[in-house]
Amino acid sequence: MTTPPPLSPSGCPVLHGETFAARPHEVYQQLRSAGTVGWAEIAPAVHALVVTDHRAAVALLNDPRTYSKDSRRWADLTTGRVPPDSPVLAMMAWRPSVLYTDGEQHARLRRAMEDCLARIDTHALREITRRSALTLIARVIGNGGADIMADFADVVPMLVFAELLGCPPEMTQRMVRACQHLISAGPEAARGGDEFAGILAELIQLRRTRPGQDLTSWMINHDAQLSDEEALHQLFCAVGAGIIPVAACTAWTLHLLLRDDAYAGPLAAGTLTVRRALNKALWERPPMANFSVHFARHDTYLNGVGLPGGVPILISHAAVNTDPSLPPDLGYDNQAHLAWSTGPHRCPASSQAVTIVQTAVETIFDQLWDMALVDDSHEPLLRHGPFHQCPQELRVTFRAKKPSRLPAATASAGGTS
Ligand code: HEM
Repeated sequence: MTTPPPLSPSGCPVLHGETFAARPHEVYQQLRSAGTVGWAEIAPAVHALVVTDHRAAVALLNDPRTYSKDSRRWADLTTGRVPPDSPVLAMMAWRPSVLYTDGEQHARLRRAMEDCLARIDTHALREITRRSALTLIARVIGNGGADIMADFADVVPMLVFAELLGCPPEMTQRMVRACQHLISAGPEAARGGDEFAGILAELIQLRRTRPGQDLTSWMINHDAQLSDEEALHQLFCAVGAGIIPVAACTAWTLHLLLRDDAYAGPLAAGTLTVRRALNKALWERPPMANFSVHFARHDTYLNGVGLPGGVPILISHAAVNTDPSLPPDLGYDNQAHLAWSTGPHRCPASSQAVTIVQTAVETIFDQLWDMALVDDSHEPLLRHGPFHQCPQELRVTFRAKKPSRLPAATASAGGTS
């Protein structure tokens, strides 16, 4: 029997670091033992309340009159008790974007975001994703094996976003590099964020003079009349909110299909679609493990538990989706999971995200035969940090299925070298 995960110096479950990356569900179990909502350490010296109960999460997420998304309400941050270099600030510090606003301000930014996302043509998105996936597959197809994360799942959404944003080809490589830094857990993450914001500022200037059919042009010309600063933060939010979850969802869908005979068999027989496996992966491994940060506007109660104002309250999408009080065997198609969240801040890009993941997974299965996990005896280690549920790496072996059908040009197109 293993020893339980160590608690923080203040006696709370620890939602970051190596033990959490290796044994997250044991930490969620510790959290659940505190009831509907419990305190957790989310970074050294940073604490938050975390909701682990499905019904309580739905109630909170649909109650914007009691709970705000504005992190300027965070008492420990405004009084200097959060270390200024804390890694959680990249995702939690306030910015003028849809993610951190409430009420009318949120409605205005959300309308701009939804209208721009709605202009993405689904067929074009599928084609961009397929082309990006083929580019990356071409680079590894002769190797007989790859790390699905670094070689494929991480980079597909970066290439897709570069094209959706209207990045000229000479900028794509820089954007992918900046995104790779941004998603790293290391010190280069902050530099990646600055580089990426700089590239977006350049793109906004470019598209002001030369508008195109792309997200950047649509955002700056939307009738909500966003300032350049607002447009930049909106686009930063879309990419920041999109790349790791899409990468994680691609990886978990593949992992499920490769690992579980119950999936691999029906998939081969054509009775189980990738779409259904993807939905199951969203239930079991929601990419945003703990997020949807809210602040009670005043001291309040949730399911009888007292919640003080000014404290970050996170929804554990990972714990609520596996809440033991949910009916067992909800099935492949049930959509009651909270991987997209719910309420006013529910992911506005769920259909685009599904299109990207499904196309990427279908393309890789179409090109590579006999794909197998190098190690299917252990759960993959997760990337560090409280927010994302994403494997650090996922090594597979394969053999090429149709090398002759890989377009030669794809090997030299954008992306990393
Ligand atoms: C599988 C992939 C994805 C998952 C699991 C996911 C999940 C989520 C979740 C849980 C939230 C709620 C966050 C919160 O309330 O703090 C959210 C919000 C958001 N997501 Fe996604 N997302 C995915 C992909 C994407 C993509 C591809 C984009 C951009 C094209 C995107 C854009 C956004 C934006 C802009 C918000 C903020 C919405 C608001 O505050 O009103 N997401 N997403």
